[in-house]
Amino acid sequence: MYRYDEIDARIVRERVEQFRDQTRRFLAGELSEDEFRPLRLMNGLYIQRLAPMLRVAVPYGHLSSRQLRKLAEIARKYDKGYGHFTTRQNLQYNWPALEDVPEILSELAEVEMHAIQTSGNCVRNTTTDAFAGVAADEIIDPRPYCEIIRQWSTLHPEFAFLPRKFKIAVSGSEQDRAATWVHDIGLHVVKTDAGEVGFKVIVGGGLGRTPMIGEVIRDFLPTAHLLTYLDAVLRVYNRYGRRDNKYKARIKILVKAMTREAFAAKVEEEWIHLKDGPATLRAADVEHYASFFTDPAYETLEANPAEFTAKLAEDKAFARWVERNTRGHKQAGYRSVVLSLKKTGVPPGDATDAQMDAVADWADQFGFGEIRVSHEQNLVLPDVRERDLFDLWQLAKAAGFATPNVGLLTDIICCPGGDFCSLANAKSIPVAEAIQQRFDDFDYLHDIGDIELNMSGCMNACGHHHIGHIGILGVDKSGEEWYQVTLGGSQGSGASIGKVIGPSFARAQMPDVIEKILSVYVDTRTEEERFLDTVRRIGIIPFKERVYAKHN
Ligand code: HEM
Ligand code: SF4
Repeated sequence: MYRYDEIDARIVRERVEQFRDQTRRFLAGELSEDEFRPLRLMNGLYIQRLAPMLRVAVPYGHLSSRQLRKLAEIARKYDKGYGHFTTRQNLQYNWPALEDVPEILSELAEVEMHAIQTSGNCVRNTTTDAFAGVAADEIIDPRPYCEIIRQWSTLHPEFAFLPRKFKIAVSGSEQDRAATWVHDIGLHVVKTDAGEVGFKVIVGGGLGRTPMIGEVIRDFLPTAHLLTYLDAVLRVYNRYGRRDNKYKARIKILVKAMTREAFAAKVEEEWIHLKDGPATLRAADVEHYASFFTDPAYETLEANPAEFTAKLAEDKAFARWVERNTRGHKQAGYRSVVLSLKKTGVPPGDATDAQMDAVADWADQFGFGEIRVSHEQNLVLPDVRERDLFDLWQLAKAAGFATPNVGLLTDIICCPGGDFCSLANAKSIPVAEAIQQRFDDFDYLHDIGDIELNMSGCMNACGHHHIGHIGILGVDKSGEEWYQVTLGGSQGSGASIGKVIGPSFARAQMPDVIEKILSVYVDTRTEEERFLDTVRRIGIIPFKERVYAKHN
């Protein structure tokens, strides 16, 4: 894991003191609302429906047990005893008091954390695969590059006032688990036949009111040129991106308006001035950052030890949990565990202080003190010995973290919606809960299989609804909350934007609507066909007909 050097530590400490003084002056009436707004937003502090909301950066979703304990302590001391893990792998507190925020930031600084650039028109937290460094299908570990991007983008003076927010995601595996196709820049690691490693550069993806799948502007960028090329992309965006209309300000609109070819040509033109310049990564630079992400002291173990396979055979519930909530590991005898934050009745992505403390303890006891936040809003323990899985499962069950639904219908991605967010058109949390309640039969859920249901409370799409196999969007109809349904969206390779099936529904109808959609799938699927593949094969019409049929 990356450890701050003296420069990182100083920057973060200084920022805390600046914000402490800014908050003091605001509370004393020396700064107006308008003057204070950009200052607080630079530190991740939004004013929301009921209270301020503080977004804490979790760089590429990596936490140490010490950091997670601090997040738990802050939730307990300054908030209502919980936090919300987001689709961009960060953590949000929904109830901090404004006057406490400088102290919260100071406590975060003690564990090398902050809220810088979690808001505003700058480069936001870089996200990546929650299984980075341990995934069996990894080409290279993306984390050193994520850290390099973090350092390059943090307080980069040229990119502090971009036309709009800017999000970068990096994937180091064959399978894209970082939603790189719907980011402003998606970097996808590729290896040539000759063994050279570089990035495919995808630009102009994004969700929000104009969802778009990104375009490839370079098939292969040698890793040494990463920063100079990113500089070139951002310069082109900074110069030509629209500042007159915030709804047209994202890079996706620019790429679309210019065309992929013209945009790529502009970037190459700009890059000529930067290529091989001082920001070129030397082998020694990459080695330096890679040295923070070396393998922990794995034991040499055999895969599938007898005590583990015996438990699998005798305990069906354990076997189900292992099948759904753990993932293969590059190291024999280990697995990665996904702790589901999607228990029925709990807002998706929320964890209490006690739960965070428990996860930190398990990370120490069963792993190497490391936790990941996944963009599906779950927590991951990357390195657990197979022989310890049964013990961990029992602890996780007791703490409400072992719902065996990872990747299933009830593993819903969901934004805070109308319960917290002032931009919302509709509530999202109660809809997620109603769906989880309706579909709480695990036999049925397992039979339905892999399916992603994503929900946002407004068109800003924080809950990734466009790329859910089933997407739900809260809409406002004459002051009432309604829900629009899309089908066929997907993240990862072959990403697609879902199609709207028709007029929206009242909240109470939503579980029935989902049930009807699933019944079409069950009736029509071929053997082994996933929900998404059925939707792609038969299109949305059969679903539409069933959902809107008058008498069924
Ligand atoms: C409650 C306070 C929040 C506010 C005010 C807010 C605001 C916004 C806005 C205005 C956009 C659209 C930006 C654009 O298209 O230019 C957006 C997009 C997005 N937000 Fe949020 N958001 C909030 C919470 C969250 C949470 C909790 C998550 C994660 C669960 C999140 C993740 C995202 C993502 C993934 C996108 C779409 C990707 C993209 O930028 O294209 N946001 N948000
Ligand atoms: S999608 Fe809309 S309602 Fe949900 S968090 Fe984002 S801005 Fe708020």
